[in-house]
Amino acid sequence: MKLPSCVLAAAAVPLASAQLDFWAKKAGLEFFGAATDTPGFREREPYAASYPKYDAIFADPKEFGQTTPTNGQKWMFVEPQPGVFNFTEGEFVSKLAKKTGKILRCHALVWHSQLAPWVEETTWTPEELKAVIKRHIFGVAGHWKGQCAHWDVVNEALDEDGTYRKSVFYNVLGEEYIKLAFQWAAEADPTAKLYYNDYGIERPASVKTAGALRIVKLLKDAGIRIDGVGMQAHLHADNHPTMEDHVKTMTAYAEHVEEVAFTELDVRIKTGTPLNDTKLAWQKESYQFVSEACIRVPQCVGITIWDFYDPFSWIPHVFPDNGLALPWSEDFSKKPAYDGMIDIFKKYADKPRPKPGKPTKPTKPEKPGKPRVKRFSA
Ligand SMILES: *[C@@H]1O[C@H](CO)[C@@H](O)[C@H](O)[C@H]1NC(C)=O
Ligand SMILES: *[C@@H]1O[C@H](CO)[C@@H](O)[C@H](O)[C@H]1NC(C)=O
Repeated sequence: MKLPSCVLAAAAVPLASAQLDFWAKKAGLEFFGAATDTPGFREREPYAASYPKYDAIFADPKEFGQTTPTNGQKWMFVEPQPGVFNFTEGEFVSKLAKKTGKILRCHALVWHSQLAPWVEETTWTPEELKAVIKRHIFGVAGHWKGQCAHWDVVNEALDEDGTYRKSVFYNVLGEEYIKLAFQWAAEADPTAKLYYNDYGIERPASVKTAGALRIVKLLKDAGIRIDGVGMQAHLHADNHPTMEDHVKTMTAYAEHVEEVAFTELDVRIKTGTPLNDTKLAWQKESYQFVSEACIRVPQCVGITIWDFYDPFSWIPHVFPDNGLALPWSEDFSKKPAYDGMIDIFKKYADKPRPKPGKPTKPTKPEKPGKPRVKRFSA
């Protein structure tokens, strides 16, 4: 019997080749996830024809075990008017997470950007702004109480030079707002892991890394709970942190917090000059360094990419002449970075991960003559 060609094609290409969450878990991580957004939102709109394929990849539990709403829980959507809450956008993703069996990371409670305009347009006294932040945190974290495995409580509180960003929150309340936000988040949703989240805090020598450590210590010294540091990791293919950089930075955070995570990973390529294999190889290396570093640092719980499909990426909209930052290209083919990460996860599959706080010891003595792999420390 002659099979129709479509059947042959389907048989030749297995539906699901290696999947990220499946192999990341085998390597000991808690999850590999992808952020996602409401259909029709911003950059997604012209790609309605791609939705079915996109949705099928997103839903595959072996591909992504976790998700984060890229936009829907931000202040401008959830509290567009003072004390008027709207959870429609955010609930699209939280319901999708439930439906597709994914861990939900919630994002973000106090952030200077994508704020509702009224927050910045009003001249607040400290007491008034405290009440505004408190209402927002109890309203939003309270709404999703028990559903969020992680909450980005304070996002991007640091300026490029590592000092506090001069946001409306800082200008009125100073660093006090950070303490209050974490206190109220802990009351509003006691089971969520509470994170400080920022970009540019992936390298050990960065002034922003020093700033993030300062924030962690500020909270710890005040006896306020902070559970994790989220490294957004919006990286550049042609100038990315090394694996040692990542390990060293995470190890420094992990001296103070229970967990760390890569929360918004993407690796942008310069698109002003033609794409070539070198650029794709740089990108692959960067994704691999993040993956391997996360496995090697016992407190690193997982990796979230900031969407997975290039046309839905924020990068080309915000950084002209940059893009192609995600593992899936516009035609749904996978970039070398995809197999590159799978290779790393396979290398560590079914090997025990180091336990937090335990001294570093290889599981088996290394054979003489072979360079000793430094698995557990920077
Ligand atoms: C809530 O948000 C949704 C989605 O953005 C919007 O369609 C709806 O009109 C909003 N509801 C109210 C009452 O403003
Ligand atoms: C690809 O482009 C980059 C950046 O322009 C360049 O440095 C590199 O040499 C190119 N590689 C190849 C194989 O042409």
